[in-house]
Amino acid sequence: MIEQMKNIKISDVKGKVGVLLPGMGAVATTFIAGIIAIRKNLAKPFGSLTQMQHIRLGRRDEHRNPLIKDLIPLTELNDLYFGGWDLFEDDAYQAAMKAGVLEKELLNQIKDELQAIKPMKAVFDKKYVKKLDGTYVKKANNWYEYYEMVREDIRNFKKQHNLDRLVMIWTGSTEIYMKLSEVHQSKAAFEKAMKENHPDIAPSMIYAWAAIAEGVPYANGAPNLTADIPAMYEFAEEMQVPLAGKDFKTGQTLMKTILAPGLKARMLGVEGWFSTNILGNRDGEVLDDPESFKTKEESKLSVLDQIFQPELYPDLYKDLYHKVRINYYPPRKDNKEGWDNIDIYGWLGYPMQIKIDFLCRDSILAAPIVLDLVLFLDLAKRANFHGIQEWLSFYFKSPIHAPNLYPEHDLFIQLMKLKNTLRVMAGEKEITHLGLEYYMK
Ligand SMILES: NC(=O)c1ccc[n+]([C@@H]2O[C@H](COP(=O)([O-])OP(=O)(O)OC[C@H]3O[C@@H](n4cnc5c(N)ncnc54)[C@H](O)[C@@H]3O)[C@@H](O)[C@H]2O)c1
Repeated sequence: MIEQMKNIKISDVKGKVGVLLPGMGAVATTFIAGIIAIRKNLAKPFGSLTQMQHIRLGRRDEHRNPLIKDLIPLTELNDLYFGGWDLFEDDAYQAAMKAGVLEKELLNQIKDELQAIKPMKAVFDKKYVKKLDGTYVKKANNWYEYYEMVREDIRNFKKQHNLDRLVMIWTGSTEIYMKLSEVHQSKAAFEKAMKENHPDIAPSMIYAWAAIAEGVPYANGAPNLTADIPAMYEFAEEMQVPLAGKDFKTGQTLMKTILAPGLKARMLGVEGWFSTNILGNRDGEVLDDPESFKTKEESKLSVLDQIFQPELYPDLYKDLYHKVRINYYPPRKDNKEGWDNIDIYGWLGYPMQIKIDFLCRDSILAAPIVLDLVLFLDLAKRANFHGIQEWLSFYFKSPIHAPNLYPEHDLFIQLMKLKNTLRVMAGEKEITHLGLEYYMK
């Protein structure tokens, strides 16, 4: 165990935690309504590790398998409070009804609680999300002024609800594709650029910068560049704030990161992987714009290359043709259908095919990720972890990572990393799965 990881002190879990969500659409409202329904015993938190998963401790013959939440103190669902921003004024009930993910009967049972959750005015510029038009937006002269307004919102929210801690998760739309530029390289350059209203700064970055300034842990659920820039890493280190991202790993990419490590483990070659989707929610509409799609495409494409390591296995993966398509098809609403055709080859090069038809519900897969990130980021902050939280890679399509490393995409390595981090936090030994100790006398 590395020296700094010994005797980690985790501050008290007691108190109320505010969850701030820039972007209160399908994912955000499915998450919020889900938590309220679970608190009332109307449903169960399927898909959430913090609520349902056990963790093995010590040797296998010790039979110690507590729930994660019993190993390590995590904020109770009853202590979560919700807020956020959107460019549409709908409260959480109206937004959830429009998103059409959860059934009306369920939403009507928690209508009062949802109606009480109203968004704050957004920092928005159509240049960065071409398909949206909203009037519920802040007015300021430059990014720096917007940043100060969001900081004010955060402070007011905390005070108004008498909260002890906060976490921010970006659940807003996918912005246009942006490349790393000079203004993203340092804190000083970024602050100067905010004052100059530089076009390389996007609205999503303003929320993230404000969160860090207020000491609020931050994760990005979309593929936007946002916090994945040296300036944010620097600022997060300085303010001792945990950062995570980006792009929730749901649907098709989840399947990819389950299947691809298995194919590679068995040294099966892959010649082609064609992925196409139809979806009809607002996210699908936003992704219908080629510039937003490019941001998503980059995120979705990066996964296979890292898992297959074609530089190490040229015979198996050098010529892999990987294509990803997303088609906006309104009748499907949030119930996406994703098809994968995978052309593989085995012994002596004989070809085979795998077909996947995943009738998935995007926001149903994303909501428990939001919950786990809220609780784990709050834990990270209480444990004084700061900067990039690579142990949370498990939840992301494009995990942020230290600049000198490559990202880890394999879901099973990510899970091991996550659980070992929790073991170490709890003062338990990491598990290597070596297993020789059971056979050596
Ligand atoms: N659902 C999934 O499985 C999944 C998986 C990975 C990533 N994501 C990403 O999560 C994000 C949310 O997805 P969704 O399905 O909820 O989309 P959505 O369109 O239903 O909700 C996004 C909301 O963000 C708002 N918004 C956009 N720009 C904003 C800004 N600058 N400030 C405040 N609000 C803003 C929009 O008005 C909208 O209400 C998207 O970027 C999506 O790509 C979703």
